Amino acid sequence: MIEVADCQLIELPKIHNQAGNITVIENCQTIPFEVKRVYYLYDVPHGAERGGHGHYELEQFVIAASGSFTFVLDDGNTQKEVFLNNPAQALHIKAGIWREMKAFSSGSICLVLASQEFSKQDYIRDYQEFLKYKKRRN
Ligand code: TYD
Repeated sequence: MIEVADCQLIELPKIHNQAGNITVIENCQTIPFEVKRVYYLYDVPHGAERGGHGHYELEQFVIAASGSFTFVLDDGNTQKEVFLNNPAQALHIKAGIWREMKAFSSGSICLVLASQEFSKQDYIRDYQEFLKYKKRRN
């Protein structure tokens, strides 16, 4: 069963020079899946909380492209808070993990690289249903 311990912060390659940094992510090399969708959260109001769902299949790489925020990951047994504030790091969220997001700094941009196209059916939005799903998979 996938646990929060399987969701690690990964160091991304950084090309540095005096004029700034470039970070490059390549399918199936830097990232262990083929990216099918890219989206980003921005203009998040102060104090707003997002997420509150899990996914059956979707895997994601989450990057604080600008600013900072906190992801709370939950596998039904254990919770882990991950603070993201470094554009050269990515949080790998595996399938079957409940997540909530909070503490977005002003102007922050949360960039997400996703392993699947958008599918409403892939969401688990009810926490009790999520717990049942994790128990079935255990
Ligand atoms: P949701 O994934 O619940 O946002 P968050 O986890 O950041 O709080 O998505 C919010 C809304 O946007 C929901 O109605 C679905 C829609 N949406 C799309 O249509 N396509 C997408 O790729 C994403 C990520 C969301």
